[in-house]
Amino acid sequence: MYLTQNKISKRLWRVTVGCTLITLQACSGGEANVETLVLANDEMKPNTQSLPQNAWPQIRSSVDQQQRQQDLQVESRVAALLSKLTLEEKVGQLIQPEIKYITPEQVKQFHIGSVLNGGGTAPNNDKFAPVSEWVALADAYYLASKAGNSAAVPLIWGSDAVHGHNNVVGATLFPHNIGLGAARDQDLIRRIGIATAKEIAVTGIDWTFAPTVAVVRDDRWGRTYESYSEDPLIVKQYAKAMVEGLQGDTDSRLGAEQVVATAKHFLGDGGTYRGIDRGDTRVSEVELREIHAAGFIAALESGVQTVMASFNSWNGVKMHGNPYLLTQVLKERMGFDGFVVGDWNGHRQVPGCTVTSCAEAINAGLDMFMVPSDWQPLYENTLAQARDGRINAERLDDAVSRILRVKVRAGLMDKGLVSSRAMSAKLGVMGGEEHRLLAREAVRKSLVLLKNNQQLLPLKPDMNILVAGNGAHDIGKQSGGWTLSWQGTGNKVEDFPAAQSIYDGIKDVVDAGNGKVELSVDGEFTEQPDVAIVIVGEEPYAEWHGDIASIEYQYGRKKDLGLLKSLQVKGVPVVTVFLSGRPLWINKELNQSDALVAAWLPGSEGGGIADVLFTDSQGQVRNDFVGKLSFSWPQFVHQTTLNVGDEGYQPLFEYGYGLSYQNHQELLGQLTEEYTLPESGELDDAWLFVSRTLSPWQMFVAGEAGEAVEVTGNRHSSADENVSIASVDKESQEDARGILWQGKGEGRVYLQASTPQDLSLFAERDGQLKMDVKIDRALTQAFYATMDCGDDCAARVALNPLFETWQPNDWHSVAIDLQCFNKAGADFTRIHSPLGLETAAPVGVTVANIKMLPGQVHNEAESDNLATDVQHPLSVMRCDS
Ligand code: BGC
Ligand code: BGC
Repeated sequence: MYLTQNKISKRLWRVTVGCTLITLQACSGGEANVETLVLANDEMKPNTQSLPQNAWPQIRSSVDQQQRQQDLQVESRVAALLSKLTLEEKVGQLIQPEIKYITPEQVKQFHIGSVLNGGGTAPNNDKFAPVSEWVALADAYYLASKAGNSAAVPLIWGSDAVHGHNNVVGATLFPHNIGLGAARDQDLIRRIGIATAKEIAVTGIDWTFAPTVAVVRDDRWGRTYESYSEDPLIVKQYAKAMVEGLQGDTDSRLGAEQVVATAKHFLGDGGTYRGIDRGDTRVSEVELREIHAAGFIAALESGVQTVMASFNSWNGVKMHGNPYLLTQVLKERMGFDGFVVGDWNGHRQVPGCTVTSCAEAINAGLDMFMVPSDWQPLYENTLAQARDGRINAERLDDAVSRILRVKVRAGLMDKGLVSSRAMSAKLGVMGGEEHRLLAREAVRKSLVLLKNNQQLLPLKPDMNILVAGNGAHDIGKQSGGWTLSWQGTGNKVEDFPAAQSIYDGIKDVVDAGNGKVELSVDGEFTEQPDVAIVIVGEEPYAEWHGDIASIEYQYGRKKDLGLLKSLQVKGVPVVTVFLSGRPLWINKELNQSDALVAAWLPGSEGGGIADVLFTDSQGQVRNDFVGKLSFSWPQFVHQTTLNVGDEGYQPLFEYGYGLSYQNHQELLGQLTEEYTLPESGELDDAWLFVSRTLSPWQMFVAGEAGEAVEVTGNRHSSADENVSIASVDKESQEDARGILWQGKGEGRVYLQASTPQDLSLFAERDGQLKMDVKIDRALTQAFYATMDCGDDCAARVALNPLFETWQPNDWHSVAIDLQCFNKAGADFTRIHSPLGLETAAPVGVTVANIKMLPGQVHNEAESDNLATDVQHPLSVMRCDS
């Protein structure tokens, strides 16, 4: 291999600015060195194989063996269709816009071959669009697409039905994959696939972007819950079962009740460095194959028809532009004859590409661009590239043939108008009783009992039960991300007709058992309960926004711990039901719970929890716990990567752990509540703001007058209206904040914690504060970065020298040596506010990816871009001691 991590060559600017020039108390007497590092993209070379190709298996897809041989017509039909298409029509097949951004009329005009609805998009922008509207829109696209090409090929519509048909109101929501992994039940997975396919077919959609077959190695990744397991074995078994459930198997495939499946994201999505979404997977080819490819190999064997290219890189090379893995390995060696769809604008990160132009990706082996909004210029550029040979005719025909092949196999050429299909809008399927019972079974099987001291569980239904915690009666929270909205946020109980909260399920059982139940989110009660069931856990998140720096639950804001303690003080035994998308460090919460159940993200059928927690009225167990951890559970807060088989494996609960009523065990003694560092002494980076403000920090905006305003929504202003802040898009939706100062006096935006935080390790280890910044104009007044450490303790550092060489509105990464704050008077043992941005100037500044990193500023370039792998010129402010 000749290279290649994101290499950054350190050249160009070295501007030295005397401290006296501008207010730099930080470096009194010294100098602030400002340098700009420029990226050398030309150093990125594609991977060559580091192993002979026969290291990858040759796969015989069950589709190959059965359907294709039985039906040789498929190939001749594909060839016949292809021969009728014009060049424009062929290129249109490669383009997949999002339904918000394309009308049926445009589908016809541009010969579009596919559409998707992204997370949280429904027809007519109506979150509550009924099934009839989905089918009506599918009809409109169908007719338009057939009219848009000479072979009357319909488009194929894809949707993220990743835990049931989760973008559709009223759908059955199954537990997210992490919970299913704990169930260890392949047959259950197959049945879920069958049910999900039916609910998809009812809306007239042909294709789901599932299953995710990531094998997650670092649970800080925000998509951990989309993974069945850290163990490739489970992922492999489940990939097979899910693909067979969705698409059918050799007996019956892609019939009226089935849909096309996608194995995603190819390849290495679960292995990125430090668990960063869309990051770099730095592993050998053997590890790539043995761990990360396991699910793909199984899915291919089961005949999966599409594969989604991943956002991530492998050893520095973006998957969307990797010919070795997309073409040589996946298609040529492993024999994949379906098509490779890109991920949401994922092609744009390939060197040389933009969102609207990327022959490189097609040439590397991508067959269809997922290009939500900028599809028209991409179409036009791709057409130009096909005309002038930058995409050669053979490659284009291959890509189109693959798409046609899948459409033919899926029966799209013959199924007729969407609304005329037997499944379309069929009553009783979407969220139907049978599917809900199946989801409830899955919930029961996914629960993992981690602690059950003095056999507090099972409970009897005639007890006096207190139900507490903000997860008790919140179906959005129990369902997590990819639920009616992309991040799973903004959902109310009423948005889930016929679903059950966990509290609803408990109430059913207790009412029927003549017990008493009181719901009290904050744990206050009127009558002393026999036991409290406290349902708490992570708030919903999805890709990108869900990445975290610390695996401590409610790091710095132990609200739920307070709730548990308050109940213990009042002598109420506590059963904690913990909702989460990943194992987290919860030693403190475990110490305050008599019993604790890891319930993951159970979905719409909250009743499955009471099914296991309660006996029947005779005190007989109705359902025992069968769930076993498919992810190792951390014992120490530094165990951010913890996987079965690791050297020195020391989890709190090992992979496979799970108590039951049969198999009882006391969890003895207090678990450590100490903050530990790994043996290497290595300090992890701390994230202050990455897409959202990370715990324990909160964001505020303040002017000269009036109280500071907390930034909780998309748009806020200081009380005096001098400073306003809004969420804006940088690499992903709302991952940055745009701040506008009117210039009417001093104003600032700052991060603050409710209790002071000890960040001294970062200062001791030559740490730095890092962020991405752009400014809309040249500045003549001072602009400060501030730190606050309580009464009479503050520091501010003028950033102006950094900005001097910048062009307005260009993104830059800024690294500020923590010594600058130290010298300006910050006491790192008690930081209230690790960063404020303050000025009296009229200016617009946009910031993103604010982190504190250990290690010297100049070493940092190598481990750059810890939140994204998008790189900007780096401006460094150094204050040598
Ligand atoms: C995700 C995919 C998803 C796609 C369409 C992307 O951002 O990575 O998993 O299928 O969006 O919603
Ligand atoms: C879409 C997601 C997509 C994301 C990418 C959202 O609007 O709904 O599917 O993955 O944007 O940024």
